[in-house]
Amino acid sequence: MFMKMTGILSSVVLVFFFFHEIIGVKTRLISTQTRGQLTSDEGICKLLVESRGYVCEEHTVTTKDGYILSLQRIPTGLTNYTLEDSKPPVLLQHGVLMDGVTWLLNPPDQSLAFILADSGFDVWVANSRGTKYSLGHMTLSFNDSAYWDWSWDELMEYDLPEIVQYVYNQSGEQKLHYVGHSQGTLIALTAFSQQKLLNMVKSAGLLCPIAYLSRMTSPLAKNAAENFVTEFMYWSGLHEFVPRGEAVMTLLKEICRKQGIDCTDFLTSFTGVNCCLSTSTVSTFLQHEPQSTATKNMIHYSQMARDGTIARYDYLDPNKNKEQYGQAKPPEYDLTNIPNNLPLFIAHGGRDELADVDDVKFLLDNLKNHDRDKFFLHFIEDYAHADYVLAMNAKEFVYDRLMDFFRKVDQS
Ligand SMILES: *[C@@H]1O[C@H](CO)[C@@H](O)[C@H](O)[C@H]1NC(C)=O
Ligand SMILES: *[C@@H]1O[C@H](CO)[C@@H](O)[C@H](O)[C@H]1NC(C)=O
Ligand SMILES: *[C@@H]1O[C@H](CO)[C@@H](O)[C@H](O)[C@H]1NC(C)=O
Repeated sequence: MFMKMTGILSSVVLVFFFFHEIIGVKTRLISTQTRGQLTSDEGICKLLVESRGYVCEEHTVTTKDGYILSLQRIPTGLTNYTLEDSKPPVLLQHGVLMDGVTWLLNPPDQSLAFILADSGFDVWVANSRGTKYSLGHMTLSFNDSAYWDWSWDELMEYDLPEIVQYVYNQSGEQKLHYVGHSQGTLIALTAFSQQKLLNMVKSAGLLCPIAYLSRMTSPLAKNAAENFVTEFMYWSGLHEFVPRGEAVMTLLKEICRKQGIDCTDFLTSFTGVNCCLSTSTVSTFLQHEPQSTATKNMIHYSQMARDGTIARYDYLDPNKNKEQYGQAKPPEYDLTNIPNNLPLFIAHGGRDELADVDDVKFLLDNLKNHDRDKFFLHFIEDYAHADYVLAMNAKEFVYDRLMDFFRKVDQS
């Protein structure tokens, strides 16, 4: 423990000097852009769904810890227009540094949300706390550092159950199909491992599953974790992680320069080489994404990358951990507790540098006793992290299979 702390401290000191050398004091001013207070005319429905001719409803959900989240519903398709009530509900949960827009960026015949609506599903799109369309809170402003005091533990504990319960209620208490990408898989896996949500979820499609991170190959993410970059940001008062803010950009560029990583294209150096994104998709993507998250959330990921565990956030202080968890070390999540009969569809790619093949193997090992007829594994050699949500051929390679899986579950 002592050795580990010494290592941490020396890294922190290094990063500290390096940070001041390159950025100076300006960094404190970054996260204060004018945002929030969006009218419904500026919501996701108006922007990306109704403009394409689809029916769309804006909903909001308030979590038990006060966050006000926006949720969009596409109750019917365009090519398959019916308003019957008994359609199977599907909830789409995006990944970290993204929001619900992710599922709607491509043309309708390539975007999962529209494809599902056109195939007869009742589609719900979630937006996690801290993203552009979910910045509200009962008492806090997103300008307050207290607003950003959370990691994916809270997304699992508060956001996800509230959203799932809401969709379940709205769809006449039908169990729903869940689709998660990246962080959207992590919060579902950890919730299921504690027997949560199971009375409301009938199956889960997990795209680029994140559970273990210690073998990830993304040079950018790996170096940031090893150098305690996010910890340093937090300690210097940057509680909101603004991916395109000056502080983050400068630090990343510096890592790239020092480590000789080619970062001319940040999306690629972060996610891996995506095979099938069109140029126009990438440019639309960059108009909307990436989104902010809590710096504390990024620290939690760094801990997972360094420690190889999947556990609650570590305060690195036995007393603080005791106060939060009743024990000196943060409790680990045990994914072998996921019920073997929960229908699971897991899709991952050979070029994904975040949900990398070796870490996914470790996850699959945790699921090795899963009922074979409830388990569908789909590997695509050429796909990287963003292909699963943005590739122009994802319908053929992933979504058609995912929908077949949902239909099979509905029929059984
Ligand atoms: C956040 O801070 C900015 C800049 O100080 C201010 O313009 C904005 O109104 C604040 N927003 C909220 C919701 O407090
Ligand atoms: C249209 O929706 C219905 C359910 O409402 C579904 O059974 C059917 O397969 C869908 N048709 C197409 C072409 O996707
Ligand atoms: C769902 O419905 C139950 C029972 O009517 C109600 O108590 C609960 O507040 C509702 N929750 C949400 C998130 O809509």
